[in-house]
Amino acid sequence: MQFNEPAGQNLFDNATIVGRPTHRTDGPLKVTGTAPYAYERHDVVEGQLYGYPVAAGISHGRITSMDAEAARNAPGVHAVVTTLDIEPLGIWDYNVARLFGGDEIQHYHQAIAVVVADSFEEARAAASLIEVEYAPGDPADYDLDAAFERFEGTGEPSTMVGNVEGALENAAAVVDEMYHTPSESHQMMEPFASIVDWSDGEDMTVWTSNQMIEWNRQALATNFGIDPDRIRVESPYIGGGFGGKLWLRCDAVLAAIGSREVGRPVRLAMPRPMMMNNATHRSATVQRIRLAAGEDGKLTGIWHDAASHSLPGGRGENATAQTPYFYGAESLRVQHHIVEMPLPEASDMRAPGEASGLMALEVAMDELAEALDMDPVQLRIVNDTQVNPSNPDQAFSERHFVECLERGAEAFGWADRNTTPGGMREGQWLIGHGMAGAYRGAPTLPSGATVRLSGGRLIVETDMTDIGTGSYTIIGQTAAECLGLPLDAVEVRLGNSAYPVSSGSGGQFGAASSTAGVYAACVGLRQQIAGQLGVEDPEFREGRVVSGDTDVALADLEGELEATDTMQWGDFKQDYVLATFGAHFVEVGVHVGTGEIRVRRMVAAADAGRILNPITARSQVIGGMTMAVGAALSEEMALDTGRGMFANHDLAGYEVAVHADIPEQEVIFLDTLDGISTPLKAKGVGELGICGVAAAVANAVYNATGVRVREYPVTLDKLL
Ligand code: MOS
Repeated sequence: MQFNEPAGQNLFDNATIVGRPTHRTDGPLKVTGTAPYAYERHDVVEGQLYGYPVAAGISHGRITSMDAEAARNAPGVHAVVTTLDIEPLGIWDYNVARLFGGDEIQHYHQAIAVVVADSFEEARAAASLIEVEYAPGDPADYDLDAAFERFEGTGEPSTMVGNVEGALENAAAVVDEMYHTPSESHQMMEPFASIVDWSDGEDMTVWTSNQMIEWNRQALATNFGIDPDRIRVESPYIGGGFGGKLWLRCDAVLAAIGSREVGRPVRLAMPRPMMMNNATHRSATVQRIRLAAGEDGKLTGIWHDAASHSLPGGRGENATAQTPYFYGAESLRVQHHIVEMPLPEASDMRAPGEASGLMALEVAMDELAEALDMDPVQLRIVNDTQVNPSNPDQAFSERHFVECLERGAEAFGWADRNTTPGGMREGQWLIGHGMAGAYRGAPTLPSGATVRLSGGRLIVETDMTDIGTGSYTIIGQTAAECLGLPLDAVEVRLGNSAYPVSSGSGGQFGAASSTAGVYAACVGLRQQIAGQLGVEDPEFREGRVVSGDTDVALADLEGELEATDTMQWGDFKQDYVLATFGAHFVEVGVHVGTGEIRVRRMVAAADAGRILNPITARSQVIGGMTMAVGAALSEEMALDTGRGMFANHDLAGYEVAVHADIPEQEVIFLDTLDGISTPLKAKGVGELGICGVAAAVANAVYNATGVRVREYPVTLDKLL
């Protein structure tokens, strides 16, 4: 099906199942520990052996020799395959680091060998016996600030509208500041893990933990130079991804190599200490933001210049992603520089671009409000726009940013705040209030599904994944709504390359895209049913098909009916900017003696199209807010510039927010419908939730203390 025009009045406007608060259908499996995750799948294939990875100890250079003799002779060991034993593997489209093969080292902890043994302990013990000698590359320059200074203002901006320099000269108020965000790691609960059966060296079956089944399959095919039709990938349950599991990683690659070598299936998990440097991460950013505004607060110019790091050919972290679209400035200059460094591959992490960019832009807006002596909410309201500031021919499909600001401010009690920094104290705690706006793009990708009806029960199959987000539930709700069935008459099967290719989970495109694909397949099934009954446009309700005198229970239809379709997206969408908006309000306490920062209260208002399920959507937003508290206050990959690696390598050294860090969180959904986005008029919400929040925390810390921190994370030492 092709989505060729804006969705008008349709069956979802009278929905009773889509939009209903529904607990996740896979919840009982999760809380009873019976949802099978990749590494736990002892049952899927006989004769599994354990693999253990060996990782490089230099950041770049070459391996000159590897001695694996002792490892090969160690107890329980079936095989050792080193990177020198095989040709360099291929590198798939979106990736730039080679996962295995050959003598070249591109980054620290790159995989360089796999040991296969009877037990995990034997594999790990043998791995420690492998001796490696290196010829390290020349010392590298890891100074992102220095690189930014060299690049700043040079080259072609990605957006250039009007004359920002002129605006800055003539402005009533100006902000011109540098902001820093550190490298961040996904550190999802479930590490990368796979079981691979490539025993015959022909057909490969992979049980893994991956957000994008088809990308994973294509990446495996490219790595090994084989036909993708020979590869089957299963990933039905995933313990978080956040963008780290968009990609094939070395767990599956090494398990495959080990399996081919020994002729038996191999299971391999990436040890947590390897995740920092072996997997991808969000690049650090350096950002200069210059804002010019008139006395009325209207922005006359925005200058946003940012740098991030990457291996050659990579994307880094484009912190300017939101700036061409967010505020209606008269002039804009936006530019992102990628600085090549031999660090692990920088790539997407939840809201890639906007998450880091808004950490800076939304603090700069707070600083501008102060310079203008204006309420920061009001400053954002006067700078709202309904057309794309970087292309006036383009409108937003739906944009309700002002309503987010107003509803959030109302719920938080923003009007009652004390505007004097350091002016509020409760005992030993300084109290501060801060807010920020949120912007995140809302893309859609083609997405397919098969639906099968038999005996009044519907089975939905799509290679869509559920990374903890609620895909099983919203897909079930969508199919139930389309066929007029109760939710418990629908069985949803996900995460298997045997099913039609879906959008997968990423870029907050998953919910909107995959439900549209399921809708397309359901429309086909409805047409078949109508044809079988010889009626036109019947109604589907309460398990029955109704049209004129015809009234038949779906359970009484003959045989099994099946339909497969893929939702494709028409060009008309290109006339619009599709995005989601939000506003965040935060109260913090800062201890007067120690500088300890505690978040005390959080309110979010979100404009993200139709909310398919308020329970799972809220979970996405509060999950994003929680992750952003980590980004604001604690998360930082510590770069060892001498060794070219990230030094903290576990959840003790890389501190994510935990329950005790998170207070009551309130989420307000506007539930605006976006007919340009999808037939369900839905957009994603999973990445919007992280956007802007860290800046709201930093702004609240400023309000509490009068100390403006522009270098994340905002740790207590920076307040002294
Ligand atoms: Mo997202 S960073 O595309 O999983």
